[in-house]
Amino acid sequence: MKTHSKYVCQQCSYESAQWMGKCPNCGEWNSLVETIVSTRNEKLKIKNEKLEKPQKLSKIKLANKTRISTGIGEFDRVVGGPSTSSGQGGIVPGSVILLAGEPGIGKSTLLLQLTDALLAQRNFAVDFSFSRDKTHTVEKALRHSQNEASQNLLGSTGSCLYVSGEESTQQIKIRAERLGIKGENLLLFPETDVDTICAQIEEEKPLLCIIDSIQTLTTADLSGTAGSVGQVRESAARLAKTGKDLGIPIFLIGHVTKEGAIAGPMVLEHLVDVVLFFEGERFYPGRTLRSFKNRFGPTDEVGIFQMAEKGLVEISNPSELFLHERDKEIPGSAVVPILEGTRPILVEVQALVNQTSMAYPRRVASGFDPGRLSILTAIISRRLGLPLGSWDVFVNVPGGLRVREPAADLGVALAIISSFKNKPLPRGSFAFGELGLLGEVRRVLGEEKRIKEAKRLGFTKIISPSTCTSLSQATLFLRSEV
Ligand code: TYD
Ligand code: MG
Repeated sequence: MKTHSKYVCQQCSYESAQWMGKCPNCGEWNSLVETIVSTRNEKLKIKNEKLEKPQKLSKIKLANKTRISTGIGEFDRVVGGPSTSSGQGGIVPGSVILLAGEPGIGKSTLLLQLTDALLAQRNFAVDFSFSRDKTHTVEKALRHSQNEASQNLLGSTGSCLYVSGEESTQQIKIRAERLGIKGENLLLFPETDVDTICAQIEEEKPLLCIIDSIQTLTTADLSGTAGSVGQVRESAARLAKTGKDLGIPIFLIGHVTKEGAIAGPMVLEHLVDVVLFFEGERFYPGRTLRSFKNRFGPTDEVGIFQMAEKGLVEISNPSELFLHERDKEIPGSAVVPILEGTRPILVEVQALVNQTSMAYPRRVASGFDPGRLSILTAIISRRLGLPLGSWDVFVNVPGGLRVREPAADLGVALAIISSFKNKPLPRGSFAFGELGLLGEVRRVLGEEKRIKEAKRLGFTKIISPSTCTSLSQATLFLRSEV
């Protein structure tokens, strides 16, 4: 049966047979999205399939979801699992995972390495019947899985399917060579028609399928171009259904741009089980993998990688990546223990204060929120009486990490004051705490964890809500002039 489509306004559900730039009903621009019309019969079928009775909460048993360890510890940590804190976790068979990030950040590299690690494990499992306590190798996970569909995979060829709509097989081969991946059981499939891809998944029954990227796929049932909201959504829905039916995990790569974060793959947010963001500054090696949504685990874990010559390297000791050797006391620098998810990381915050030559003083922040910087300079000017109104203030977090926590306030403020007064903070000191508008230092989450990490790295002098209650008190820690 030939399906047909209509255009539906995402704002008010107005329907039209043609695309229009502006919804005639609610007046919203660009809100009409092409959608497939399901006939009455299909709707009835779906309704009957879904007929379930309400159940008592107390009677519902927790299914022990078996997970497949990917072989990349930092990745498993982010998707979560039975005991995430020990770094053990993995992907749930049949789940759909959206990996979003800016172009060039390393999404294709990460997933290519992931297939290699996963396949290496499987071979290992076959050869040595190797298994770890909590996480499972592919083989074992499938055997333990209560999901009937994933049982089918036990007999599968044991390959990973990498669908590339973006790069040619030649380009992927070049990347694989660079990463040292032979890819014995990695199948490359340059295709953009989602129905062909689904048919291929059904035939091949791979252990895992990667779509690079979802914005390149189309279905002939819709007339929109690749990357339009209608095509992206429908393609993802079809893949998700195929994956769920067969118990095959599906990875969707999605590009986001700095400006258009919402228009991009976020239209898929409700459709997928897990949304991961791969972030970093392009010219810095540090990369973070964050989970934004996770139906099977927590969303507060962060994986940390470094982009190196031969691909991404897991960083289990991130402080060492972001903190430089500090053998001299220099004005304008503070060490701040921040929390990324549940993990403490020590970073250096640098500030430079310079007399302005413009009508308005400049406030420039890199790796830190510019709005927050304005507030901090205002607090410093008012509460300490420093005339920052005629000084430019620059703040930088070297290493390419983005600091978003209010707990960094005190460290940033001290770095600014330190630069202004040309007095360094003492060696071995670190600072954290939120700054209130009255200049008070407020308590923050995870103080013990932060202190522990700082001490581990040899920082002993604590500047925190427990050692100072106000900003002016904290400035007493500054050394005398150098
Ligand atoms: P890529 O995975 O193609 O990014 P995405 O799929 O997110 O667009 O990676 C792009 C960048 O990573 C590219 O600019 C080169 C760099 N890179 C390395 O530094 N080392 C490597 O081993 C590889 C494969 C890539
Ligand atoms: Mg890519």
